[in-house]
Amino acid sequence: MPPLTRPRGTYDLLPPESALREWVLATHERVAAAHGYDLIETPAFEATEIYERGTGTGTDVVEKEMFSFTDRGGRSLTLRPEATPGVLRAVLAAHLDQEQRPVRVHYAGPMFRYARPQAGRYHQFWQLGIEAIGERSPAVDAEVIEVAWRFYAVLGITGLSLQVNTLGDPEDRTRYRAALVAYYAPLRDRLCEDCQRRLEINPLRLLDCKRDHGLVAGAPEIGASLGSESRDFFARVRTLLTAAGIPHELNPRLVRGLDYYSDTTFELWHASLQGAQNALGGGGRYDGLAEVLGFPPTPGAGYSLGVERTLAVCRAQGLGPVPTRDRVAVLGIGDPGNLAAAEVARRLRRAGLRAVLDASDRRLDRKLSSAARQGARAAVVVGEEEAAAGTASWKDLESGRQETADVDGVAAALGRVLRGE
Ligand code: HAM
Repeated sequence: MPPLTRPRGTYDLLPPESALREWVLATHERVAAAHGYDLIETPAFEATEIYERGTGTGTDVVEKEMFSFTDRGGRSLTLRPEATPGVLRAVLAAHLDQEQRPVRVHYAGPMFRYARPQAGRYHQFWQLGIEAIGERSPAVDAEVIEVAWRFYAVLGITGLSLQVNTLGDPEDRTRYRAALVAYYAPLRDRLCEDCQRRLEINPLRLLDCKRDHGLVAGAPEIGASLGSESRDFFARVRTLLTAAGIPHELNPRLVRGLDYYSDTTFELWHASLQGAQNALGGGGRYDGLAEVLGFPPTPGAGYSLGVERTLAVCRAQGLGPVPTRDRVAVLGIGDPGNLAAAEVARRLRRAGLRAVLDASDRRLDRKLSSAARQGARAAVVVGEEEAAAGTASWKDLESGRQETADVDGVAAALGRVLRGE
């Protein structure tokens, strides 16, 4: 029987690669926390209706990419394709917005989309993100963008391009939709099948089409449909970004793939990611989302970043955690040595060290070379003699220095070695 394989569009995160993701998640948590964002965690699946109403039935995500299933009670559930509707539901259901506004939360976790797998696109992928819920102000939009920008700066990623746009308020979008329909309707026959349908249900999506580029270039831009309030709001967001030293590019075609946006939208692009998959992340304002989910109208803004794409850029730019060589290999020789080595390892751990026990019956030289291969900084050897005397010998694998001492003495000496004293 051939060995079983993992499902299409998924991957295994293995060491040492897993350390890179840990580092990226920890960095995001630190940057978000520095701006007052607290951790939130919501279920990995929700009622399908949350995405149909929130993310929007006219979007590719809802139309083609959801992993939906019926549970044993006959309810339709969906593995979350994105976090925003679930996070908003959780915050509003718990009335967190009645205690403070905005509610600032950050999250990280797996998302699921049934999109054709390719480089940078998976069926299960991770997003990390933030949402600021309960306040409509350009300052909140600028803050959200600044957190994303700072996160990538702290990682050390260079070459980011920040694209911004506004989708205005619902009235502006009604005007814009009409302008798009007026432009596209006579060109109907030249549109792909998907776009012919989008023209009826969601004309903004036409600007996202990957096949009709020639036509997109001539389409009207949202700017001409904006009222003065929307125009002012967006101008203030841009002024705040400039004041924060964040370079950004106005991209009037940036409509984003999800239905709930109004006013500010943005994406972070990186040239090293190819083609249509060049967005590291994106977000924007979603003041109408709470209401379509059945809650009182509540403004919000946030972003989500693709973790796999962020890791790909880190790898390409040689970024990652500074490797810490802090493991201590504890090696027993013979039965009494192995028995005593296990206790020595426990005592080293109690002293705060990372002690990895090798109590196998391999020869000492094998154990030493495998410890060195696994990146141990020091080895502690416990043979029959040491076991009887309650001592152990330690060796600094970097400097070659070695000594014998009682177990507390070993712990203290290794602590000094690892701290570089
Ligand atoms: P999104 O643009 O759909 O926005 O996704 C954000 C990021 O998730 C993308 O830029 C990409 O890096 C990553 N991503 C999306 N699909 C895949 C996939 N199949 N494989 C790998 N990575 C993927 C949102 O999800 C919104 N919730 C953003 C938001 C938060 N808006 C307001 N708040």
